[in-house]
Amino acid sequence: MAKKIIKRSWAEPFKIKMVEPIKMTTRPYREKCAKDAGYNTFLLKSDDVYIDLLTDSGTNAMSDYQWAGMMLGDEAYAGSKNFYHLWDNVKKYYGMPYFVPTHQGRAAEHIISKIMIQPGDFIPGNMYFTTTREHQELAGGKFVDVIIDEAHDAQNTHPFKGNIDPKKLEDLIKKVGAKKIPYVSMAGPVNMAGGQPFSMANLKEIYKLTQKHGIKLWFDATRATENAYFIKVREKGYENKTIAQILKEMCSYFDGLWVSAKKDLMVNIGGFLATRNKHVYEEARNMVVIYEGLHTYGGLAGRDMEAMARGLEEMVEFDNIKARIGQVEYCGKQLEKYNIPLVYPFGGHAIFLDAKKFLPHLKQDLFPAQTLASEIYLDSGVRGMERGIVSAGRDSQTGKNRYPKLELVRLTFPRRVYTQAHIDVMVESIAQVYEDRKKIKGLKMVFEPKHLRFFQARFKKI
Ligand code: F0G
Repeated sequence: MAKKIIKRSWAEPFKIKMVEPIKMTTRPYREKCAKDAGYNTFLLKSDDVYIDLLTDSGTNAMSDYQWAGMMLGDEAYAGSKNFYHLWDNVKKYYGMPYFVPTHQGRAAEHIISKIMIQPGDFIPGNMYFTTTREHQELAGGKFVDVIIDEAHDAQNTHPFKGNIDPKKLEDLIKKVGAKKIPYVSMAGPVNMAGGQPFSMANLKEIYKLTQKHGIKLWFDATRATENAYFIKVREKGYENKTIAQILKEMCSYFDGLWVSAKKDLMVNIGGFLATRNKHVYEEARNMVVIYEGLHTYGGLAGRDMEAMARGLEEMVEFDNIKARIGQVEYCGKQLEKYNIPLVYPFGGHAIFLDAKKFLPHLKQDLFPAQTLASEIYLDSGVRGMERGIVSAGRDSQTGKNRYPKLELVRLTFPRRVYTQAHIDVMVESIAQVYEDRKKIKGLKMVFEPKHLRFFQARFKKI
């Protein structure tokens, strides 16, 4: 008799030791909350949110090993032992000899942009990220998108939509000259493209190209372990390498990197920059004293640095990252059952709803993604985030609205926080909103802040 093979599921490599109650609310209650928040999910009180998928940034559950480390905080103003532990681990896992802590990722972006960019420079990158571009442009630079075209097409299933198009980069170098390009900024995976990774082959090619022209290559390594995971499971030759080995190899091509530790490192606050460039390091070490704090704490408590040092050890564990991305995938597959329009392939940190396809009757000026995020909140108290025309902001030179091809709602998964049952509830809510989509009208922006408007803009229902 043939042996019957039963399908074997995966499960999280941890169990729950402490719980945090969440509040279920009624539709009339949420209607009031949404109105008070100007239909911007960033302006809701977290207490009024049921399942919070706004971001995976600083919203992670720390392990008992990290919490134990919090008790070992050395809160000395200078030379905290936790700083040295963290520095050792940065060397070990990212392979960068020099390291400067900052209170979060954008603080590192600020410092790097100030050091590297001169007014009139161009900074090519694989799609913009909101805070990254803002700091590059505040330093007088101009961001230029050199990601492959496939990244701007939500339905395209290219396995490495985060790749840089070498031709776009060469064309820019020819047009403006290598001297006007202080560095190429490469993120992996690419947040705004839907959490899409770059391949090692592409990285090597871009490295060669930048070397040829004497241009530096810098890495937004905020979610680098997710990129490493995708390389392991999608790229030939990497299937037997560990996440730590792939991460180290990725980093070996960069002159330096910055990290928002609030993601991969599974802490609630923190960031840093690390580099092999002694000159940049010396400048950064000096500048951090002005903006963040002494170079051995960078705006962080000793205990925060200890939690980061320990998070670094956990972030490269294969089972951990597999369960994280497995949860995102599970959510995507459940949504597919209701034919919800999604971004493909599913990303590392989030599922992205294609708001242009979800609400085809709304023009982009009526903020389809902003509208959809607020409708999902109204239906169930689930909070997601707009990643479309509001996030894209205005062109820094013309002041006109940018019209990005991708008009998305991001449902982002905090690490080790929610269960499959939470996902089922969230999926059913989105399916209901999709059922009722024809009744949905758009929004009108009634308040627009000058910088990073998506965080604080206010809207009215049409
Ligand atoms: N780079 C990337 C790719 C990010 O996703 C973020 C933050 C930053 C830099 C800035 O780091 O928040 O620590 O200052 N992303 C969050 C998000 C806010 O929700 O995607 P930060």
